[in-house]
Amino acid sequence: MNTIASNISDELEKTQHEFWNISHQTAEFISMLIKISKVKNVLEIGTSNGYSTLWIADALKDAGVGGHLNTIEFYEKRQSIARENIEKAGLSDFVTFRQGRALDIISDLDFIPDMIFIDANKSEYIQYFDTFKDKLQKGSIILADNVVSHAAKVSNFLDEIKNDTRYQSQVLDLPAGLLMALKVM
Ligand SMILES: C[S@@+](CC[C@H](N)C(=O)[O-])C[C@H]1O[C@@H](n2cnc3c(N)ncnc32)[C@H](O)[C@@H]1O
Repeated sequence: MNTIASNISDELEKTQHEFWNISHQTAEFISMLIKISKVKNVLEIGTSNGYSTLWIADALKDAGVGGHLNTIEFYEKRQSIARENIEKAGLSDFVTFRQGRALDIISDLDFIPDMIFIDANKSEYIQYFDTFKDKLQKGSIILADNVVSHAAKVSNFLDEIKNDTRYQSQVLDLPAGLLMALKVM
């Protein structure tokens, strides 16, 4: 991570609980996964103030394969803070911000992601998955945060993805619990 992005990340970690950001460990894991997998079209559902956005955009830049992130946030104020953070880090070329209700935006997307990071309304996780489960190409990755910390709210989503034979999945032992699923057929 470049020094400016790293300094912004350190600053944002001071208000992590206020903005419901992913843990530092989860951010490191997602960053490594992006660099290994060389994904090109990442979709983030739940931007908040842009902490995870910063890590994803930085990893896409580092991967050097022309990858881009689209990120969705309902609240204009949070999105404008995120936009400022990404501009300060010099990563604006790697991010498109989309403001509005996630379900409205994803039903009308003009591209098919090859990685989706789900971190918005927990009771909608299943609907986010239902929107994409048939459309994703083999080799695409789905990540979902809070599957342990909010287990009751996401149990229908977890059951569905685990029972879908087209997806191989595992809950990783990271703070809050991160589900990783790979479309294998
Ligand atoms: C857990 S926070 C995201 C944290 C961010 N991924 C990070 O780690 O820095 C969830 C965000 O999703 C937004 N959100 C919740 N439900 C949403 C919805 N239905 N559509 C769009 N955004 C939503 C909230 O406003 C909140 O800012």
